[in-house]
Amino acid sequence: MIFLMPMLYMGKRFCLLCTFGIIFFFIFQLFHLVSGDCDPNDKQILLQIQALLGNPQELVDSWQLEGACCKSRGLLCNDIGRVTYFFASFSDHPFQIPPSVGGLKYLKYMTFSDLPNLVGSIPDTVATLSHLQTLSITNCRLSGHIPSFLGQIKSLQSIDLNTNNLSGSIPSSLGQLPHLSDLNLSVNNLTGVIPEFRLDPSFNKQNPLTIVLSDNNLSGPIPKSFGNISIQWIDLSGNQLTGDASSLFGNDKAIWYIRISSNQFSFDFSRVTVPSFMEDLDISENKIYGSIPASLGDVAWDQFNVSNNLLCGPIPQSLNSQLSDPSQFFHNKCLCGFPLPACV
Ligand SMILES: *[C@@H]1O[C@H](CO)[C@@H](O)[C@H](O)[C@H]1NC(C)=O
Ligand SMILES: *[C@@H]1O[C@H](CO)[C@@H](O)[C@H](O)[C@H]1NC(C)=O
Ligand SMILES: *[C@@H]1O[C@H](CO)[C@@H](O)[C@H](O)[C@H]1NC(C)=O
Ligand SMILES: *[C@@H]1O[C@H](CO)[C@@H](O)[C@H](O)[C@H]1NC(C)=O
Ligand SMILES: *[C@@H]1O[C@H](CO)[C@@H](O)[C@H](O)[C@H]1NC(C)=O
Ligand SMILES: *[C@@H]1O[C@H](CO)[C@@H](O)[C@H](O)[C@H]1NC(C)=O
Repeated sequence: MIFLMPMLYMGKRFCLLCTFGIIFFFIFQLFHLVSGDCDPNDKQILLQIQALLGNPQELVDSWQLEGACCKSRGLLCNDIGRVTYFFASFSDHPFQIPPSVGGLKYLKYMTFSDLPNLVGSIPDTVATLSHLQTLSITNCRLSGHIPSFLGQIKSLQSIDLNTNNLSGSIPSSLGQLPHLSDLNLSVNNLTGVIPEFRLDPSFNKQNPLTIVLSDNNLSGPIPKSFGNISIQWIDLSGNQLTGDASSLFGNDKAIWYIRISSNQFSFDFSRVTVPSFMEDLDISENKIYGSIPASLGDVAWDQFNVSNNLLCGPIPQSLNSQLSDPSQFFHNKCLCGFPLPACV
C-alpha cells in the first residue's frame, strides 16, 4: 500500500499509474498467497530472532524462512502474509528477546519455550502488539518484574510465564485485562499480594478463568473479586497466602480444580459447598478448621487431600467409601473414622 500513496496524492493525471499500481499490488498479494511466502519485514524480524538463537537446525527446519514460510510448521500467517503465530525453542544459546518483535504487528500468539539462556526482560515494544492473544514465555530465565505494560494489550487472553526467574509483585494492570482467561505465573520468585481482577462479565462467563500462581512467595488474602468472577481452575499452592479462601467454593460455580496447599489459609471448612462435577481438591498444609461437609462425598474425586490442617470430626461415609488413603486425611486436629482410626 505504501507505494500507492504518492500516486494517489498526485491526482487524476496519474490514474493510469494508479491502476497499474493497484494491479501490481494484487499480483504481489497473489504471489504471496500462491508462494506461501511471508511479509518481507516480518521475515527480516524472524531471521534476526533465528540468528540470535544461533540458527538451531530444528528451528530453521520448522520456520523455513528461506522458502514458503507461511506453509511451514512453526509459523502461521494471515491472508496477507503477515505472521500471526510463532513458536521458538530448541536453543541454549544466550538470548534476549529483541525489541524488533514489536514489528510483528499482526502477531496473535507468541511462544518462547524451554530456552534455558533466555535472560533479561520482555521488551516494551511488545505493548504495541494490538492483536496479541497469547503470550507464552515458559521454562526460560526471564528476570526482573512482570512489566505492567502487558495490561495495555487489551486483546490478551492468555499469559503464561511459568518457570522463570521473575520477581516483584504481579502488576495490578494484569487484573484489568477484560478478556483474560488463562494466567500461569507458577514457579517464579513473585512477592506481594494478588491484585484484584476485573474481567468483562459476559466474556468471563463464557471463558471461566484458569489461574496458576503456585510456587512463588505471594502473601496476603485472596482478592475479594475472586468471589465474583467465574473461575474454573485455580492453583495457589506453595505461597504464604492467608485468610479465608471459602469464596472460591460454591455449588453454583464453574470451579472444578482447587489447589491451595502449603499456605496459611485459615477458615471454617464446615460450610463450603462444591459443584458435583468437581475433580480436584487439595487444601493440605494450611490452618483450615471445622469439619468435612458430607456433600463432598457426592463428587467423584480424581485428587483429594485435606491433610495437615486443623480439621475435626468424623470423615463422612459418602467420602471414605471412595477414598481409602490415610495420607489424604492425616495430621489434622481430630479427624476420625476410616481410613483414619475410629472415632471414640
Ligand atoms: C529466587 O531468587 C533467589 C535469589 O534471589 C534465587 O536463588 C532462586 O533461584 C530464585 N528462584 C527461582 C525459582 O527463580
Ligand atoms: C534470579 O534472579 C536473581 C536476581 O533477582 C539472580 O540473583 C539469580 O542469579 C537469578 N537466578 C537464575 C537462575 O537466573
Ligand atoms: C502452569 O505451569 C506449570 C509449570 O510451572 C505447569 O506444570 C502447569 O501445567 C501449568 N498449568 C496450566 C493450567 O497451564
Ligand atoms: C520467600 O520469602 C522469604 C522472606 O520473605 C524468603 O526467606 C524465602 O527464601 C522466599 N522463598 C522463595 C522460594 O523465594
Ligand atoms: C461483582 O461484579 C459486579 C458486576 O459484574 C460488579 O458490579 C461488582 O463490583 C463486582 N464486585 C466485586 C467485589 O468485584
Ligand atoms: C496429601 O498431602 C500430604 C502433604 O500435606 C502428602 O504428604 C500426602 O502424600 C498427600 N497424599 C496424597 C494421596 O496425595
